[in-house]
Amino acid sequence: MREEFLVFLAIFGPFLCEARGFHGIPGAYCSARSPTCCTNRDDDCTAPILGDHLCYCDMFCDRGPDGGNDCCPDFEATCLGKNAPKNDLHSGEPCEQEGDEKLANCQKCSCQNGYWKCDGTTCLIQPDLLEDVRTGRYSWTARNYTAFWGRSLADGIKYRLGTLFPEKSVQNMNEITITHPDLPEEFDARDKWGSLIHPISDQGDCGSSWAISTTAISSDRLSIMTDGRISATLSPQQLLSCNQHRQKGCEGGYLDRAWWYIRKLGVVDEHCYPYVSGQSREPGHCMITKRDITDRLGLKCPSGHENSTAFKMTPPYKVSSKEEDIKTELMTNGPVQATFVVHEDFFMYSGGVYQHSDLAAKKGAGSVAEGYHSVRVLGWGVDHSTGRPIKYWLCANSWGSHWGEDGYFRILRGENHCEIESFVIGAWGKGSKRRRRFKMRKLRRFRKLF
Ligand SMILES: *[C@@H]1O[C@H](CO)[C@@H](O)[C@H](O)[C@H]1NC(C)=O
Ligand SMILES: *[C@@H]1O[C@H](CO)[C@@H](O)[C@H](O)[C@H]1NC(C)=O
Repeated sequence: MREEFLVFLAIFGPFLCEARGFHGIPGAYCSARSPTCCTNRDDDCTAPILGDHLCYCDMFCDRGPDGGNDCCPDFEATCLGKNAPKNDLHSGEPCEQEGDEKLANCQKCSCQNGYWKCDGTTCLIQPDLLEDVRTGRYSWTARNYTAFWGRSLADGIKYRLGTLFPEKSVQNMNEITITHPDLPEEFDARDKWGSLIHPISDQGDCGSSWAISTTAISSDRLSIMTDGRISATLSPQQLLSCNQHRQKGCEGGYLDRAWWYIRKLGVVDEHCYPYVSGQSREPGHCMITKRDITDRLGLKCPSGHENSTAFKMTPPYKVSSKEEDIKTELMTNGPVQATFVVHEDFFMYSGGVYQHSDLAAKKGAGSVAEGYHSVRVLGWGVDHSTGRPIKYWLCANSWGSHWGEDGYFRILRGENHCEIESFVIGAWGKGSKRRRRFKMRKLRRFRKLF
């Protein structure tokens, strides 16, 4: 019977969709026979199609691009789960022990009436999406992360991002006007400022990017402005635990309120108030009060250290969404904070220049999800590795250094991709003015002496 098909293909092949078997012909073939079919080779797993022809619903029908393909049109959707989240185990596979339960990636499956039935949760790592990115022509690559495997997409959106959509007050923040110097084709803050730029952090299971990115930008800029005299890593935990008024802690926060807090009260360093919410998933209670910070006798750190001070920043300002403005700000004053939309495929990013794909959307509404996230932008460049030049922003994520390109990622630049250019924020450290005054005083004394 299978040989007959080849003859059929020889005659009718050119009329079929790209000679790829019965692709695209509507109807229920495999889905009408599921769940008994689909596995292994089973020559009886057929369905009539186009008059008296037969199509197949077993694994043998899918022999790759050169092996011929006599699969039914709905074979992929039904048997390979291309339209549903695919896991190592999926609904419809036969099972033995009634009532057995098993985890398949993030899904719970139970054995009912001889077949596995999975709960249909969309997972953070979607193996079919991984495969599609791996085999398709994309400017980026994807990979499976142990930390994300077994987690649901909803969990990822809830616990790995954490920036609430910028309020009117951010949208209306004063925009600074910028005059452009000559801008290079590539720039990396780490090349210009070296160790003054702080390393990658890991927010763990807490939607705290609002606090992490704000303290990270502050830390970098304080170091830059003081030529490294202040090299502290400011404590995101203090923001998370103490800036709780109209903030949502591990479920996200507003950037303008975080900046307001650093400006008014100041934030101590990481040694003084270490980050623990990545494990606890909760913002916790505030362990530093306003009085602690302003106490003349010195600041008592939650960690027991007593040598910290609270660092303050000036009011934040918005950088326009023009590429040149963002570049100039970055090059002159240091890393900037950007808020963008994270889509389901971003979690699987491994390297290259990220561009959101519609692969998940094609699988149906249940496979997509998005949320706002804020990160540090460190530079820009042009990638030539795929043949055509692709412009990118270089950003530091807060998912640890095992994610992406050693914790960093690159994203399409110049098209406001995922809104990356919409909400760019900068601020100055408060140490700077004092230092300038200090320098002047020294200079005056110097002059006096001579
Ligand atoms: C992804 O990684 C997990 C754990 O590291 C592993 O159990 C799982 O099989 C992997 N999945 C795929 C599709 O590679
Ligand atoms: C405070 O002391 C700890 C250890 O004693 C040290 O590692 C840290 O850098 C100090 N912090 C500041 C701001 O001096």
